[in-house]
Amino acid sequence: MSLKKQLKKLGYKSRALQIKLTEAVTDPLRKRNAADLGIFRPLPIPDPMTVSLTEALMNRHTDRQFAEQTISDQMLSNLLWATDGINRKDGRRTTPSPFNWQGIEIYVVKSNGVWLWEPERTSLRFIKGGDLRTAVAPVDPLVSRAPVHLVYVANLESTKIRATESASEFLSFIRSDRFKRIGTWTQTSVRNAVMIDVGAKVQACYLACAAMGLGTVCRITLDRGAAREALSLKPRQIVIASQSVGHTL
Ligand SMILES: Cc1cc2nc3c(=O)[nH]c(=O)nc-3n(C[C@H](O)[C@H](O)[C@H](O)COP(=O)(O)O)c2cc1C
Repeated sequence: MSLKKQLKKLGYKSRALQIKLTEAVTDPLRKRNAADLGIFRPLPIPDPMTVSLTEALMNRHTDRQFAEQTISDQMLSNLLWATDGINRKDGRRTTPSPFNWQGIEIYVVKSNGVWLWEPERTSLRFIKGGDLRTAVAPVDPLVSRAPVHLVYVANLESTKIRATESASEFLSFIRSDRFKRIGTWTQTSVRNAVMIDVGAKVQACYLACAAMGLGTVCRITLDRGAAREALSLKPRQIVIASQSVGHTL
């Protein structure tokens, strides 16, 4: 299906999008890939979730049976902001990241396609069309039919992570035991840091779901090959976990 048809099917009619579309159709260099075109779906500004932290913590739990009903863009915006939103002028986020690497990307898989969360724009960047939910939540149909699946991806191309890896590789060449120990520590730290980073996001998402009366389940049991393909990941992007979100049955 052509990009224009895919977008029409998604209901894009805005003037800004028409301009993007015109560029897409008339500029052969930009025709190849929708992601290159930078087509964004703006989400509403997050609104306050007024439930107390204690209440959210009391209500936090895992659900594995979801209705097909979609969640509103407002809820999705609140959810993504809680999980990985900007809460300070310097661009830092609602969830911590080691050395502020911000190396975790959140792909949002919905029935209308795959999107990438862009906190700086409070928007979803269009990656590709099609319903690929079963590729990222394959096991149970009551889970895969949830309207939203967040997929946490570690992007090892992220500059600071790459810098740390290079440092660690360099250290492993140094013969001294002391430096070897530091090298091993650094590699392990990078791996642990990625997992903790995702863990913080998972819990923030759980709490936002509890605050908004949505259900959610985090999964590490997913077909990573199928998920990679569905998200069109590059070699140094690693799928860490997914989290399905929706109204419960
Ligand atoms: C890192 C992590 C991975 C998980 N992986 C799965 C999973 O693959 N499948 C699943 O059904 N639940 C998974 N869960 C959900 C746990 O099973 C659930 O949190 C646990 O049973 C406790 O229930 P509660 O969240 O309601 O307190 C995972 C949770 C975490 C934190």
